[in-house]
Formats: sequence, structure tokens, C-alpha cells
Amino acid sequence: MSKILVAYSTNSGSTAEVAQAVAAELSQAGHAVDVKPMNDVAAINGYDGVVLGAPMIFGWHDQARRFVKKHRAELAAVKTAYFACAMRLTRVEREALPPVNLTLDENLVKDQAKPGSLNLKERFTTIGYYLKSMLPSDAQPVSVAFFNGKLEMFRLKWWQAAFVMVVVNATPGDYRDFDLIKSWGRSLSQLL
Ligand SMILES: Cc1cc2nc3c(=O)[nH]c(=O)nc-3n(C[C@H](O)[C@H](O)[C@H](O)COP(=O)(O)O)c2cc1C
Repeated sequence: MSKILVAYSTNSGSTAEVAQAVAAELSQAGHAVDVKPMNDVAAINGYDGVVLGAPMIFGWHDQARRFVKKHRAELAAVKTAYFACAMRLTRVEREALPPVNLTLDENLVKDQAKPGSLNLKERFTTIGYYLKSMLPSDAQPVSVAFFNGKLEMFRLKWWQAAFVMVVVNATPGDYRDFDLIKSWGRSLSQLL
């Protein structure tokens, strides 16, 4: 049995439910699990494994990036797994990616429209662009997952809604696949 922290940040709330689902699978597998918003986590020593999750909001959520920066040394000393919730993910042919064990929600993934060039929407939504915003350069996570997210326009400030319409170009709705999310959580119980 390991002691595991599942820490998350969220813009509109839905990533918290994803984190809870991952934590529930780890608990069911017999681990001692704490699930908390990143803002409530003072330190991560004492844990054997840490799962970090946040939505893509102009890259990985700013709060999560700050958390990783602040705890970089402690994170290097434990097993880690990362996840992101997003509404668009572009798979680029032969994109140079760090050697990480990736889980992708195939309903989220779109291949680039025109091989050899990326349009504006694609440029800011590639797997490589996302991973760069999530992982410290020395990170060796046991797994990284990209899940389809949830978008409700009424929860957003006008400028957030404008960005989502122009760049992310996503149709509002709840696209989270909890079967995939739970199965990723179960897979972590062996890896962390
Ligand atoms: C301001 C803003 C920017 C976003 N940027 C991206 C993005 O760059 N790529 C993407 O795939 N999704 C983007 N999204 C969609 C969110 O990542 C998605 O809706 C996520 O599930 C929200 O999670 P939350 O409810 O925990 O905040 C954006 C949403 C907002 C509101």
C-alpha cells in the first residue's frame, strides 16, 4: 500500500470531479489517498506518489504550473503522474515528444489538417505544446493522460469565452469519459 496525493486545480469545477474519480480508484486498490485542491497542499513530503491534474487554460492551468514550480524538488523525489482535461488536442505527425507513457482520449484527438503546417488552433493545442506547459524538464512521470473535458460558457468571463470560441473552437458540453478516467486511475495503482 502506498500513500498517494491527488492534487488538482480547476477553472470551472469539472476537473475536481475527474480528480475524485481517479482518487476513488486508487483507494479501492488499497492505497491511502488524499485528494485536495493544489491551493490546500502545503507540502508533498510523506507521500510515495503524487497525481497532479488540471485543465488546459491557455496551456496547463496557471495554478498547476505554479504548484509544480514551487514543489519541483519534492516532486523529483516521488513517483508522479499528470493529467489534463482539454477540449482540443492536435496530433502532429512526427512531433518530437518526451518519452512519456501517454493515455489519450481518442475522442479528444484530432490529426493536423494539413501535414507540414499548423494553423493557429493547432499550434496551441499540440501534445508537445501541452506537455511543455505541464512537465518540468527533468520530470519522469509514470504516466500522463489527456482527458476530454467539460465546457459551460455561462461560467466564463467574456474574454475567456472569446478565447474558447476563437482558438479552442469547442462546442460546449460534458465530454468526460469516466470509464477511461477510472481505468487510468486503476492503472496508476500498479505504477505509483
Ligand atoms: C479561458 C479558457 C481557455 C481554455 N483553453 C483551452 C486550451 O488551450 N485547450 C483546450 O483543449 N481546452 C481549453 N479550454 C477548455 C478547458 O480546458 C475545458 O473546458 C476543461 O474541461 C475545463 O475544466 P474545469 O471545469 O476544471 O475548469 C479552455 C477553457 C477556458 C475557459
